[in-house]
Amino acid sequence: MSDNIYSSDYVESLLQKYIQNEALRHHARMVGKAVKAYATSLNLDEDMVSQWWAAGTLHDLDWEFVPDQHPLYAVEQILRPAGYSELILQAILSHAPERSGRQPESALDRYLFACDELSGFMHAVSLMRPEGFNGMQVKSVSKKLKDLRFAANVSREDIQRGAQLIEKDLDSHISFLITVFQHE
Ligand SMILES: [Fe+2]
Ligand SMILES: [Fe+2]
Repeated sequence: MSDNIYSSDYVESLLQKYIQNEALRHHARMVGKAVKAYATSLNLDEDMVSQWWAAGTLHDLDWEFVPDQHPLYAVEQILRPAGYSELILQAILSHAPERSGRQPESALDRYLFACDELSGFMHAVSLMRPEGFNGMQVKSVSKKLKDLRFAANVSREDIQRGAQLIEKDLDSHISFLITVFQHE
């Protein structure tokens, strides 16, 4: 396993190669940032922090060009051959349990699952606000969650399940992510 597959240059080059849609790349970077912030808050060592970040950033790598095979294609055809750790491969599989048949188990699995759908939802909320994430309140996010017409494609069930998986109440999970995304 070479070190440089965890460098930001290499990970970013994969995003550039496999994802053309800038919105999806942005989602990838947001999720990477979110799981990285959680890794840091859990006092994981530097190597682990970069593995968490890479898993988050690469979790949707094949979504755009082989949606039917997502995320198995990326795991088996791109990331495993590139030398990414089993920890990362399993986390990417388990962010889509209904597709991969694999449930979130490890801490990384659970945090990735918890950050994915909620980051997407919060991004949608930020687009409605002139200041984006700056000054965003937890209650404005939870209000939008209850409005099922808003970002209707985002699974509320997955968002609730994610918070349960990391044993956090949803409000503090949202609050943590507001702080993370404010510093973009
Ligand atoms: Fe996905
Ligand atoms: Fe995603």
